[in-house]
Amino acid sequence: MKLWTGRFKKAIDKKTDDYNSSLPFDIRLYNEDIEGSVAHAGMLAKQGIISEKDLNDIISGLSKIKEELKDPKYASDEAEDVHSLVEGMLTEMIGDAGKRLHTARSRNDQVALDLKLNLRKEANEVRDLLTSLVAAIVKTAKENTDTVMSGYTHLQKAQPVTFAHHVMAYAQMFKRDITRIDDCIERMSECPLGAGALASTTHPIDRFETAKALGFKAPMANSMDAVSDRDYVIELTSCFSIIMMHLSRFSEEIILWCSGEFRYIELDDGFSTGSSIMPQKKNPDIAELCRGKTGRVYGDLMALLTVMKGIPLAYNKDMQEDKESVFDAVDTVKMSLSVFTDMFATMKVNKEEMRKKAADGFINATDCADYLAKKGVPFRDAYRAVGELVRYSIDNGKNLESLTIEEYKGFSPVFEEDIYDAISLERCVNGRRVYGGPAGEAVAIQIEEMEKFLGSING
Ligand code: ARG
Repeated sequence: MKLWTGRFKKAIDKKTDDYNSSLPFDIRLYNEDIEGSVAHAGMLAKQGIISEKDLNDIISGLSKIKEELKDPKYASDEAEDVHSLVEGMLTEMIGDAGKRLHTARSRNDQVALDLKLNLRKEANEVRDLLTSLVAAIVKTAKENTDTVMSGYTHLQKAQPVTFAHHVMAYAQMFKRDITRIDDCIERMSECPLGAGALASTTHPIDRFETAKALGFKAPMANSMDAVSDRDYVIELTSCFSIIMMHLSRFSEEIILWCSGEFRYIELDDGFSTGSSIMPQKKNPDIAELCRGKTGRVYGDLMALLTVMKGIPLAYNKDMQEDKESVFDAVDTVKMSLSVFTDMFATMKVNKEEMRKKAADGFINATDCADYLAKKGVPFRDAYRAVGELVRYSIDNGKNLESLTIEEYKGFSPVFEEDIYDAISLERCVNGRRVYGGPAGEAVAIQIEEMEKFLGSING
């Protein structure tokens, strides 16, 4: 039976009922719904609004219901939503005390609370998954501080870096994602409960009490805002979108790196798939799916922003549409982070291949120009001389390492035997020891700082 049958002469149309119902997707809020009800009932008793006996009945009833609701059959119950389902079950179990639970409360502040509690928990789980990913990146980085590879701009070989430095760039992105989630959680620290339908209540409730009991810092300051605020849903989904964007960029590189053209890495068999027709294939489907699922999380964000854009104060049923989008984003980002981390942690790094491929492509040309500049040639002239040198090498099938000193001197008399040392890729990398640079010692500092960060957030 509907909660609101008193006002109505006729039962709801069947199709309308299905259209209206949110139970199939908000059933996942049942733990939070019960948690909120326990806090609300405790406060009602403390304020003398319900009796201690009612409170005890409510608490023991709710704890039984919590067990029962583990059974997935309840998702197809005929109740309109999780709130009416729990209330209906409770009333059936304990009678009038169950009916008193809804005193000074509306489903509008109830749903706002349930969703906030749920997303706070999910946000923390995403944060933990990010932390594991950063730890996996740090581990790989530590094993590769001397793995020379080419860095790219425009996907053209540019300057020598190390694999450690390259992957640590992603660790920095995911570190920012962690702090972004932290900021978002911080803004989720006010409790909507007690806002009622929109205008609070005439019952002498204590909103500070329930806020504290539920782990919030304070109650929300405006009852109309409290029931209609979904900023945190949007903000969190935008954090998720940025995480997916980072995962997608990383995935794109992994897809490239395990192609026959690069062969920088090899994915573990457990995280790859084969082809139904081409026996030789080993495909990076996980990385491709991460890249693809990014679009769906962006879609969730767009859906949420669009749902909220024209809604007048206070609660409107449009807001029920927030759940499927944000839950989809939560599930997608959690799955993606978890599988990606395992895929990354098990991949094999082909150090030799990276080093070999770094040797062609003139990635030490800047160092060659810097060599001249350090010997007093104005950089622009040095740049030009080396440009001509590169052109000459390409035309003659050589690289900077294989040119003779006579050939060098033909482009600038300043070149001497020590040029070969100056353009060795290991020297080029390790000379870039400025803070944030790719030299082994600079990356060691970067890694150390990252480990400190991980230690500080785990502790
Ligand atoms: N299922 C609803 C939602 O998700 C709960 C709130 C219903 N409130 C109402 N006044 N109909 O938004």
